[in-house]
Amino acid sequence: MENKEISQAVIGRLPRYFRFLGELKDEGIERISSQELSDIMQVTASQIRQDFNNFGGFGQQGYGYKVEYLYEEIGKILGLYKTHNLIIIGAGNLGQALANYMNFERRGFLFKGIFDNNPHLLGKKIRNMEVKSMDEMEIFVKENDIDIAVLTIPKASAAEVAKKLSDIGIRGIWNFAHVDLNVPRGIQVENVHLSDSLMKLAYNINQFENGG
Ligand code: NAI
Repeated sequence: MENKEISQAVIGRLPRYFRFLGELKDEGIERISSQELSDIMQVTASQIRQDFNNFGGFGQQGYGYKVEYLYEEIGKILGLYKTHNLIIIGAGNLGQALANYMNFERRGFLFKGIFDNNPHLLGKKIRNMEVKSMDEMEIFVKENDIDIAVLTIPKASAAEVAKKLSDIGIRGIWNFAHVDLNVPRGIQVENVHLSDSLMKLAYNINQFENGG
């Protein structure tokens, strides 16, 4: 496959393709045309073809895509066949909710530990793991080959913690703190703002009610 720069917009759509293809595979569907995929996913067939062309196309024109092959190839592109060891920083409401959500493990994201700087939380068990202190983080990251940190702490301390994480060799931050992080090249940050999705919903309700 050609090693060209793929836009973040295309990459952002891959997990959805992956999810739909996984469902088709589970239903025993072996082949699908871009038009059929387009109907199910409510994306134009030309968008699908354009997206897939970034990766060499995946399928024969007029013949459809092989569902399992496409599913596996997209999984490989997303790096899902490697496992990722992750820790959560911030054992509050959100950190605990994420820790308790088991489904990420199906995709190879293995939850290894949870850390907090509040002494009252230390030792508290969340999904059978004790909350650890921030002082233990560096050694833990090295010993457990941790590559992803999930940041569920307030924005005021996010920059400082992100710096520490990059210093100790974390490769990716899944950032829920509402702040843009300046991190060195070589460490990837994915920001998540649930409220963006909610605002999009509000916009769509508004549009619909105004006859848009
Ligand atoms: P919370 O107050 O329940 O939990 C935050 C935890 O972080 C606390 O246990 C606190 O002791 C810990 N903490 C604070 N500073 C720390 C540090 N320097 N090192 C280690 N641990 C530290 O808050 P909640 O509800 O879990 O939210 C966490 C953060 O996520 C907030 O900043 C909130 O605004 C944000 N948030 C973001 C969402 C999103 O969609 N991006 C959705 C919900 C919350």
